Amino acid sequence: MFSSSIISYVIAIIAFLLHTSAYGQDRTINAEINPGCNNCSLESTLVYIRAEGQTDTIHQIYEYNDLGDKGRMDEKSWIHSQSLKRVTWELKEQIITEKEAMVRLHGTMHHNRSRDIIDVKLDLLPYKDYATELPHLIHTANSTLVDISLVNLTTSRYYNSSRFALHLVLVSTDPATDTMHNVMRKSLDDEHTPGVFEIIEIKTPASLSSEMGGFVQFRPVGYTQHERNVGSSTIAHVSDFNRTSLPDWSTLKTFYKGFDEGNLLVQDMVVCFGEPGDGFYKRYNYTAWSYTIGYGAPPMEGFSLFVIVIISVGLGVPVLLALSGVLYAVRRKYRHNPPTRLINED
Ligand SMILES: *[C@@H]1O[C@H](CO)[C@@H](O)[C@H](O)[C@H]1NC(C)=O
Ligand SMILES: *[C@@H]1O[C@H](CO)[C@@H](O)[C@H](O)[C@H]1NC(C)=O
Ligand SMILES: *[C@@H]1O[C@H](CO)[C@@H](O)[C@H](O)[C@H]1NC(C)=O
Ligand SMILES: *[C@@H]1O[C@H](CO)[C@@H](O)[C@H](O)[C@H]1NC(C)=O
Ligand SMILES: *[C@@H]1O[C@H](CO)[C@@H](O)[C@H](O)[C@H]1NC(C)=O
Ligand SMILES: *[C@@H]1O[C@H](CO)[C@@H](O)[C@H](O)[C@H]1NC(C)=O
Ligand SMILES: *[C@@H]1O[C@H](CO)[C@@H](O)[C@H](O)[C@H]1NC(C)=O
Repeated sequence: MFSSSIISYVIAIIAFLLHTSAYGQDRTINAEINPGCNNCSLESTLVYIRAEGQTDTIHQIYEYNDLGDKGRMDEKSWIHSQSLKRVTWELKEQIITEKEAMVRLHGTMHHNRSRDIIDVKLDLLPYKDYATELPHLIHTANSTLVDISLVNLTTSRYYNSSRFALHLVLVSTDPATDTMHNVMRKSLDDEHTPGVFEIIEIKTPASLSSEMGGFVQFRPVGYTQHERNVGSSTIAHVSDFNRTSLPDWSTLKTFYKGFDEGNLLVQDMVVCFGEPGDGFYKRYNYTAWSYTIGYGAPPMEGFSLFVIVIISVGLGVPVLLALSGVLYAVRRKYRHNPPTRLINED
């Protein structure tokens, strides 16, 4: 009896795999760096990927003095914002093929402080899978993986408890009176991101109502060292949304040129990193965070074969035992009081 139930699980698993591979259909992408610009230096990088639209940019980096050692930024924190306007961006690495579009940029804050590095990696892989690096976010043909690392940033000499935070501006063509949504989901297993069960999704109104808008998806986790593992992970805290306007001199301004700015939904939010007693930013001089940004419905994680087998065994055995108990009871019952109707039908 047990062996026949194993077969039915195998069928279920195969059906499940077929189902996911339907989502994982490869799509060729068409990416270009600095299209139409034949006089662009490596200092100006614009990646154009057909059918992809960015809906946010990092606008500023905040440095805050976390005197209470909470990890979070609050009104009482002394906040110093560093605009990224004067950052010099340099293209460090690129892969532009039909199967992947990846660029890695190094931003340096000041010409005379080339030690301070903001490393930004954008990676578009046009099929559904888990990213190779922790926190193993899911990428699809409709989303781009973004990794941001703040490396060796010089902290303010007036702050003794510095931490860095990222200020993101979110823009969509939804009504300006509407609001972005922060949806926190719990995943049933932490197989891909040990110890982290939450998934945070920032959805535009259209993404929430009709799965047509944009989204940002991430796990509430950051990393304090280049080698990402459980030991180097820290908490990423997300603020509420605040209404704002399009930042001047930004690609967003260019991107939304044809729109009436008063009709755009523009909100910002802050993501900060750390937990009490972790020694602040200066302990490692490193903070990294990853998210995916895309359009449509954010991808859902499926159960892997391993988890399915575990769940099947965990649930299957008690169900089988209960079932055999029921059968046994029924058999006993029937043996003692054979129903006359069944006998007549024989
Ligand atoms: C290319 O850029 C350089 C400096 O940015 C400028 O001096 C030169 O005129 C440009 N050439 C063309 C063909 O636009
Ligand atoms: C960097 O150079 C600018 C002027 O070029 C100067 O004002 C600033 O103080 C310098 N910063 C450091 C940290 O040396
Ligand atoms: C990507 O977007 C297209 C068009 O909105 C949709 O048909 C497709 O199912 C999406 N793919 C994934 C993997 O979300
Ligand atoms: C940051 O500083 C450390 C120690 O000075 C150095 O080993 C490391 O290479 C620096 N990182 C980068 C990306 O420059
Ligand atoms: C930082 O400075 C404040 C006073 O400005 C002091 O109360 C606090 O103990 C200092 N914190 C650390 C970690 O040195
Ligand atoms: C939201 O914006 C208001 C007005 O600009 C400002 O006073 C407030 O501190 C902002 N809140 C956050 C969480 O940034
Ligand atoms: C981090 O950088 C500061 C200088 O900005 C330095 O004093 C400190 O030793 C560095 N920490 C590590 C772990 O490299």
